Amino acid sequence: MVTVDVERKSKRSLQRLLPRLEKELTDSISADLNGWQEFVERIRKYFPLLFDLYFGLYGNRYDFFFHLEDLLISLARSWFARATDLRELDKAREANPLWFQSNQMLGGVCYVDLFAENLEGVKSKIPYFKELGLTYLHLMPLFKAPEGENDGGYAVSSYREVHPPLGTMEQLSSLSRELRQAGISLVVDLVFNHTSDEHIWAERLKAGEEDYADFYRVFPSRELPDAYERNLREIFPDEHAGAFTFFPNLFRNGGWVWTTFHSYQWDLNYANPAVFNRMAEEMLFLANQGVEVIRLDAVAFIWKEMGTNCENLPNAHKLIQAFNAVARISAPAMLFKSEAIVHPDDVVKYIDPGECQLSYNPLLMALLWNSVATRKVRLLSQALATRHTIHPETAWVNYVRVHDDIGWTFSDEDAASLGVNGYDHRRFLNEFYLGRFEGSFARGLPFQENPKTGDCRISGTCASLAGLEKALNEEGPNAVELAIRRILLIHGVILTAGGIPLIYLGDEIGTLNDYTYRDDPAHERDSRWVHRPRADWEKYAGRHDPACMEGRVYLGLQNLIALRKDHEAFSGSELDILPSENDHVLAFIRKHAGQRAVIFANFSESQQTIAARILDQYSIYDEATLHGISSIPGQKDLELEPLDFLVVGT
Ligand code: GLC
Ligand code: GLC
Repeated sequence: MVTVDVERKSKRSLQRLLPRLEKELTDSISADLNGWQEFVERIRKYFPLLFDLYFGLYGNRYDFFFHLEDLLISLARSWFARATDLRELDKAREANPLWFQSNQMLGGVCYVDLFAENLEGVKSKIPYFKELGLTYLHLMPLFKAPEGENDGGYAVSSYREVHPPLGTMEQLSSLSRELRQAGISLVVDLVFNHTSDEHIWAERLKAGEEDYADFYRVFPSRELPDAYERNLREIFPDEHAGAFTFFPNLFRNGGWVWTTFHSYQWDLNYANPAVFNRMAEEMLFLANQGVEVIRLDAVAFIWKEMGTNCENLPNAHKLIQAFNAVARISAPAMLFKSEAIVHPDDVVKYIDPGECQLSYNPLLMALLWNSVATRKVRLLSQALATRHTIHPETAWVNYVRVHDDIGWTFSDEDAASLGVNGYDHRRFLNEFYLGRFEGSFARGLPFQENPKTGDCRISGTCASLAGLEKALNEEGPNAVELAIRRILLIHGVILTAGGIPLIYLGDEIGTLNDYTYRDDPAHERDSRWVHRPRADWEKYAGRHDPACMEGRVYLGLQNLIALRKDHEAFSGSELDILPSENDHVLAFIRKHAGQRAVIFANFSESQQTIAARILDQYSIYDEATLHGISSIPGQKDLELEPLDFLVVGT
């Protein structure tokens, strides 16, 4: 809440600033008077909030007012550059702000080059996206990046240029329009924690330009890095120890740069308001290309403070809220999705209409895989019961796989309350998914195994982790059937739990691990490439054939997607756990607009029973079967088939 004092300060600041803006922007204003009026209206509405946040972050700077004015000029310029159709979209979204909670929503994510060579290729796949039912398409980082290693594009050298092999910015903006006409919102990353070391800001720093000295966090000696590192976690320990990298050509005797991720990814210094202003411009530039959702990459790390672990700090939230206020003023249609793969208590702190309206749900993802391995649903059920409800104007993005590794980010306290030791259990999960645990069906690879802490994360495609690779290569039809059921079961949960389901494209046809990344010098050190294969369109061609593996997965998934889209109960995210009294069966109720659906997900390979008493209590006998192979008996116990995803409702 903005206090009376801040309200007064912000009012006076705006009174002083508006005439200066009018002077600076005379030409644009006279060319677009209506636009200017609309902008002034939004500024009046959101300035107190923006001012409060900006003042909280930068109010102690001697040149605060200079940066504030600079920011407002950028906001106005970006608004003037916003195309008419996007301004119309702004209005439509403002009139229907919860559009993303609809059961019609379905997300997909892919790499431009791996899925379709380039942006024109992606355009040619629009009919496929429509066939699948997508309404949201996240294209992985497609901006100019260093040749060779660039962390799959997460090292950005220019936010205003498309990586040349993929196409041009004009093509991106034309693609966004065609997607929108097809009912699909374009999602791209704002990689805003760091840039590549080839970004012009880094180049200017290297050249010794004073204005760029504090765009990044650079230190002439180990003194401060050592002090910071006392409290820091290592994120990519395979790549470099600690959080800093030494560059011999900086300063006179070299310098240490803050590099949370790879050495070529330099962390930006948001304590400098110029960095905020320039990134706000980059963000609005992307919004003006027609990007509707910005995936805020690595949100946890953007603010640093000595003596803390520099993750999830209060000012990180202020920064994102300030970016959000910027978007509300100059690109109101745009939403934020947070990528915080951290403790569940911290994940939810980013979710708010005034911060990130959308968030990855890493807990649901990790616990789905936990249930697949243990065949037990206690942790999953507990998480859905206690951690699923978020602000009613926001939504989870639920997924089973993305381009990253799986980290076991459940809460140790939650696990302990069920008698599970978090540390030991993570070790078991890693052993299981690495295929080392006896009887494991999974074929995963270790990612960033840290011998110092015993920490390890898992790479691998959905199908390979769910047992399909092993089943096809070593077992046979029975095991193949079970693996396919597992894939469909976990997708069933993300499609019905509430929020936006997100499919990692390739998973819809059961794509297996691709070990050829080991032959590519730019990828060999990063096992995540095992689950980033090039799309095989010959395999896609089999997707309608129920006799082949691709078709079985694809058609199964299509049924689940149709289930979601045909039933309004799957809109919104109201969810109640139904105590199934069976450790292997996750059961929950979804309700929306007077509709109801009840889900029974059997995570075990054997038949499971749900007592007649429970079915009676929840009036299940009166319901129709909407999905699944088991059938609802008459007034008797329910026998759930192995790995079945049974849904009943009206
Ligand atoms: C995000 C991305 C990941 C990348 C990291 C650094 O976590 O998802 O792929 O390595 O940010 O940008
Ligand atoms: C860490 C980060 C997360 C990132 C991941 C990449 O877990 O917290 O943001 O996605 O590394 O592997």
